[in-house]
Amino acid sequence: MAKSAPSFRCSECGATHAKWSGRCEACGAWNSIVEESPLSKVPGSGLGGAKGKLIQLSALDTKEAPPKRALAGMPELDRVLGGGLVAASAILVGGDPGIGKSTLLLQAAAAFARTGLKTLYISGEEAASQVRMRAARLGLADAPVGLGAETSLRDILTTLEAERPDLVVIDSIQTMWSDRVESAPGSVSQLRAAAHELVSFAKRRGTAVILVGHVTKDGQIAGPRVIEHMVDTVLYFEGERGHQFRILRAVKNRFGPASEIGVFEMTGAGLAEVANPSALFLSERGQAAPGSAVFAGIEGTRPVLTEIQALVAPSSLASPRRTVVGLDSGRISTILAVLESRCGIPFTGLDVFLNVAGGMKVIEPAADLAAAAALLSAREDTALPADMVIFGEISLSGALRPVGQAENRLKEAAKLGFSQAIAPTGTKTDGTTGMSMRKLGDLVTFTGEMFGAG
Ligand code: TYD
Ligand code: MG
Repeated sequence: MAKSAPSFRCSECGATHAKWSGRCEACGAWNSIVEESPLSKVPGSGLGGAKGKLIQLSALDTKEAPPKRALAGMPELDRVLGGGLVAASAILVGGDPGIGKSTLLLQAAAAFARTGLKTLYISGEEAASQVRMRAARLGLADAPVGLGAETSLRDILTTLEAERPDLVVIDSIQTMWSDRVESAPGSVSQLRAAAHELVSFAKRRGTAVILVGHVTKDGQIAGPRVIEHMVDTVLYFEGERGHQFRILRAVKNRFGPASEIGVFEMTGAGLAEVANPSALFLSERGQAAPGSAVFAGIEGTRPVLTEIQALVAPSSLASPRRTVVGLDSGRISTILAVLESRCGIPFTGLDVFLNVAGGMKVIEPAADLAAAAALLSAREDTALPADMVIFGEISLSGALRPVGQAENRLKEAAKLGFSQAIAPTGTKTDGTTGMSMRKLGDLVTFTGEMFGAG
């Protein structure tokens, strides 16, 4: 057999290199390239050699009890977790610095501790006295939470082995360092090692582990993305700094629906839960104005109405502005192209600003038609009826495609006082909501009916 050449692999990004160098050209990491040993030649191993153990196979329908769950008694949080906290699960809560992660998790830790769960809160960022002060301000000082301020992973794991809590919050995973890894705290290798050890502890001892991770734009410290695959549940805490609304969104959940959201409001006394987000997101809406459309959306299992706002103005720039906040800018470009080429309504020479009110992010394609309606309404300077909701996907041909859960969307709209809806042809409704429905087949019909344009 030909002698295989040695190969080198970057331990940070996995790129392979023909020779060793100090810096990985693929990801730019220093000192991360290691020589990969070829498959070891254990005597008799490999195909045709000595045998491994037979693994035990089982049927798919083994009657195992569903995982044990604990409710915090904070409905917004419990729902996003998929119906409570699962024992032995690993949860990552990511978000921008200062968005309110520590506040949320201190409140959650206190809530779980009060239900009888043995709970520890380990802060690597703040001194114990700082956390105590915050707890006092939030009215949580009496909650039976064990508080620690530590960054050494070895000391934390030793403590966890001794204490065997039901839940531990690690704030934040980027401040933890393991003496088994040489690189600096905050590096990808440290982050991976710390997450790996804490997740294995969770699985081994049945402790639920919540890891806080800062999302960083400048890349000074490694972002939580690199450990998403190791955990069972990934939640992101989002919001605009200037707004008081905060949204906890499940982007991955092995124990419940992903894309579920919980809505909170940052107040002087911590985060308050918002039970009726639609009412909140629409609360700033005034009289019917050009450029405003109400989208009947679904977030996870729950309908949420949001207002999409558009502004269209003559541009002095060679390539006019396309500023999109809270919606997918790629989809908006597509919608503008469809409006131009299928409906003959150009936006050339016009600056376009599009925004979801209240700092909400909408990722459903079902928002296409409402976004188009807001754009057209702004361009034609004509307000849509104030009691109208809109939903539906737009295809590249300009046809409107029906979307799921129409009845849920309409029920929520009816509850909030809306009385008419526009949706694509083929939308399944049973007429029980009493909403007046108009079902349209394509965008050309829509623009003609609403604005007499096209
Ligand atoms: P924090 O939880 O420290 O954010 P993170 O852990 O994500 O970095 O929250 C920081 C912000 O929240 C800070 O700007 C102050 C604000 N805040 C309130 O408005 N009310 C409160 O009761 C608390 C505790 C914080
Ligand atoms: Mg914090």
